[in-house]
Amino acid sequence: MSDITPPYFQRHIFFCLNERTNGENCCAQHGAQKAFEHCKMLVKQQGLAGPGKVRVNKAGCFDRCAAGPVAVVYPEGIWYSYVDEADIDEIVESHLKNGQVVERLLAPPELGR
Ligand code: FES
Repeated sequence: MSDITPPYFQRHIFFCLNERTNGENCCAQHGAQKAFEHCKMLVKQQGLAGPGKVRVNKAGCFDRCAAGPVAVVYPEGIWYSYVDEADIDEIVESHLKNGQVVERLLAPPELGR
């Protein structure tokens, strides 16, 4: 079987939207839902959404809660810790649109759960 089939999406960004009700830290406590919706809106508004382009998806816990809120972009496997909508704007413009990693928002590599 050939290995040259192009990917269905050029890039995929997943947002952890996990919510814990036991008081433990989780991405939902830090604005993850709002950031996800903002990203989805921007990607659509800029014509980046769809086959051959970008897909924005929800995800559960990545076990990287200490770096949260987190989002990960594939195929590069780049992990981001974001704070506000301006950070999401930058990830969309720089990485999702132009393939440039946003260094200042990289999740600290040592942070797990
Ligand atoms: S709660 Fe988001 S990575 Fe665990």
